[in-house]
Amino acid sequence: MIFTVAIDGPAAAGKGTISRAVAAEFGFAHLDTGALYRAVGVKGGDPVTAARGLEPTDLARDDLRTLEAGQAASRVAAIPEVRAALLEFQKRFARREGGAVLDGRDIGTVICPEAEVKLFVTASAAVRARRRWLELGGEAAAQPYAAVLAEVEERDARDRNRADAPLRPAEDAVVLDTSDLDSAAAVAQAVALVAAALAARG
Ligand code: C5P
Repeated sequence: MIFTVAIDGPAAAGKGTISRAVAAEFGFAHLDTGALYRAVGVKGGDPVTAARGLEPTDLARDDLRTLEAGQAASRVAAIPEVRAALLEFQKRFARREGGAVLDGRDIGTVICPEAEVKLFVTASAAVRARRRWLELGGEAAAQPYAAVLAEVEERDARDRNRADAPLRPAEDAVVLDTSDLDSAAAVAQAVALVAAALAARG
């Protein structure tokens, strides 16, 4: 069975949590496409060369989730040749046998416009920054909340305003605002949507 769930949205909206839960629920493979751009960003050297030569060990680094890696990712993600180098792998992953969930910024618009389910997960910048700050350790985090908020807003602005594959909902995406939802409620809505799409397919 070929079945793609495309989950896009701004930084720290809850895409990762929802994607992992949907993949586990339906036995689909999951690809966190942000990790590809983070790996290119932290690798150093020429980003186009890094993207063309990306290896599994690059994706296993333990520094991919830092704020710096997020910023580096968003800078290299604006380079069309970097995006082009990562395109085929993501397209093939989306249409692999057995079902796939991909989360990112351009899955429903560029990587897999034919996806059976498209979700655009969002939340207010303040809520998203608070979640990322707590994830980084809260009061024990190296960065104060205000720095995390500034980082999230800067990254979103860059992702929304770039020329190539900007962050935006696909026309046929279902928008899920998680500002007032806990993760269990957000996951339940996403799972219900996928279940309905699978049932409609028969
Ligand atoms: O989702 P995550 O925060 O890990 O993404 C890091 C950065 O990678 C984003 O801010 C964005 O610039 C870039 N990205 C992208 N397209 C994707 C996934 C991530 O441009 N499909």
